[in-house]
Amino acid sequence: MPTLTLTLPKRLDWQQQIVREARRFNVVNIGRRAGKTTLGIDRCATRETLGYPVGWFSPTYRMLIEVWRNAERILEPITARKSVQDHRLEFVTGGVLEFWSLDDPNVARGRKYKRVIIDEAAMIPSLQDAWNYVLRPTLADYKGDAWFLSTPKGLNFFWQMWQWGQDSAMSEWASWKMPTTANPLIPLSEVDAMRASMPERVFAQEILADFVEDAAGVFRRVRDAATVESIDRGKVGEQYLFGVDFGKHEDFTVITVVDVRHKALVCMDRFNQIDYHIQMNRLHELYQRFKPVVIVAERNSMGDPLIEQLQRQGLPVWPFTTTNATKTEAIDALSLAFERGEIGILNDPVLVGELLAYTMERLPSGNFRYGAPDGGHDDCVMSLALAWWGASNTQRPRARSKEY
Ligand SMILES: Nc1ncnc2c1ncn2[C@@H]1O[C@H](COP(=O)(O)OP(=O)(O)OP(=O)(O)O)[C@@H](O)[C@H]1O
Ligand SMILES: [Mg+2]
Repeated sequence: MPTLTLTLPKRLDWQQQIVREARRFNVVNIGRRAGKTTLGIDRCATRETLGYPVGWFSPTYRMLIEVWRNAERILEPITARKSVQDHRLEFVTGGVLEFWSLDDPNVARGRKYKRVIIDEAAMIPSLQDAWNYVLRPTLADYKGDAWFLSTPKGLNFFWQMWQWGQDSAMSEWASWKMPTTANPLIPLSEVDAMRASMPERVFAQEILADFVEDAAGVFRRVRDAATVESIDRGKVGEQYLFGVDFGKHEDFTVITVVDVRHKALVCMDRFNQIDYHIQMNRLHELYQRFKPVVIVAERNSMGDPLIEQLQRQGLPVWPFTTTNATKTEAIDALSLAFERGEIGILNDPVLVGELLAYTMERLPSGNFRYGAPDGGHDDCVMSLALAWWGASNTQRPRARSKEY
């Protein structure tokens, strides 16, 4: 068989770095014009995928057509057959590349892919459903991988996926963030001109690839507060307090350690084994290191037997019963602490992410309900809110005997 040469553009440094660091699910959050789509086409013709079907997904038909034209031209040397109507290329290597727009209701029905590429993922209005119902199932047969390429659009589901990529507990996910200037072909004078003419928020999002906070967030000035250095054990002469949110089904146990005098979160333990002994051991182990004056622990379903056991063992546990009212009280107090710059926290990506994503919803009764948006966790937020609530109440001696 004759050798075929396919000449793809030589990867830019950032593209090369990402290819090198890739995992199974890759969330590539990059400024405009930096070369996202070019990287996507590069990922369509790789040694790992050339003998397999690959699916390309764009948010709209118009965007699909533009990419199709480019891909068709670049991949021409290895194309054996082409259907313009179906936007489908068959390669001489046996592989297939199919292009879909996610505004098509029959998108990718019955297909299986070795890789899917989702261009401008943040622009897909129901990305979470697209991922769960359309994209993820196509990867099951070949244990395929996924590439989400986009410039951000607020704190939507693309951002949630990007967070997963930053979370060391989500080992299949990786994520990156780079500005437009990562592409050396874009003149710096153009970037300066855009900085001068665009509103700051727009420049931050489109060029710097910042996830710009929405106005509806519950916690403000979170990033300003995230400057505390973590410590492993308590310091002599200081008082500590724990907040504990016990993991239930499919979420995390989080223990946060607050330094009472400095009003700072200084240590956090987060794990998702819900085995009773593991939870107890980790709590005891942390207790030995910090000797907290109080442990505020959530008392619901999982919490109750654990709390009784801890109290029997002589640990200073205050049970906290979560209802909409008590939760609101604790979250409001924490939110005010951020607003006033009274609290310091660790610069932990999972914690900061949960705080930024935390939302409120107005109930028909007129009250608010707080929580993580769909697909997100709020265990770190709850654990911190419990610790903060405890720290605010240790000053009042009567509270010690009171049960919440
Ligand atoms: N590896 C590369 N080698 C040469 N040129 C490149 C490379 N990657 C990107 N470019 C060029 O940079 C420009 C932007 O690339 P591309 O369209 O892939 O970026 P993008 O991030 O998808 O942009 P947009 O935000 O508009 O969708 C194009 O002119 C493209 O040809
Ligand atoms: Mg593009």
